[in-house]
Amino acid sequence: MKITEKITITNEDNMELMARYPDNYFDLAIVDPPYGLGAKLVEGGKSKKRRFNKNLEAVKWDEVPSTDYFNELFRVSKNQIIWGSNYFDLPPTRCNIIWDKKQTNFTGADFELAWTSFDKASKAFRLSRVEAYTNGKIHPTQKPVALYTWLLDKYAKHGDKILDTHLGSGSIAIACYDYGFELTACELDEDYYNDSINRIKNHVSQLKIFQ
Ligand SMILES: C[S@@+](CC[C@H](N)C(=O)[O-])C[C@H]1O[C@@H](n2cnc3c(N)ncnc32)[C@H](O)[C@@H]1O
Repeated sequence: MKITEKITITNEDNMELMARYPDNYFDLAIVDPPYGLGAKLVEGGKSKKRRFNKNLEAVKWDEVPSTDYFNELFRVSKNQIIWGSNYFDLPPTRCNIIWDKKQTNFTGADFELAWTSFDKASKAFRLSRVEAYTNGKIHPTQKPVALYTWLLDKYAKHGDKILDTHLGSGSIAIACYDYGFELTACELDEDYYNDSINRIKNHVSQLKIFQ
């Protein structure tokens, strides 16, 4: 579905999406595949994560991508930023990125790690969970829009075509819209797909009211 002139989002498996594109079509892939944490995600104990339980649906989508997935990703994109890189078998790189969550207690991860294909110094983006989710969450592993705008600012060039093979909540689409990037993305889960489309459309229509 074309959400705006520059943002196209489909409800499908990412292998189907990538198969339609020639080599090096996308300038930058920013992806956030499942880490295979299924049980941990759905057995959120007393935490709010249970809201996202969806009758154990999370386990279904939470499969670590295959080698074929990474081969396709590297085929269709010139550069890549891959979140959850501590869970995947990727080559050594000079340029890692962390999202430092500025944790003040000892529960949960202090940071998330991304592998990149860039030959640059490693960098950290710092934003607490409280700052990240002031408008709430629609997805259990939602990343903040501010993280994506920071990534686009630092690693994308004007006119770049961006790919996201695991859209989730649609945070990247909001960042791409705000910064004028062309985005092609997909989400396998129909509920997350519909929720993300609504979220992006709301964002676009709210901005139009103030323009
Ligand atoms: C870690 S989450 C992404 C979260 C996202 N970065 C955000 O900010 O909301 C991974 C997402 O990939 C989706 N997914 C899993 N396997 C997929 C596949 N083969 N093709 C497309 N989407 C997939 C899941 O449904 C889930 O929503």
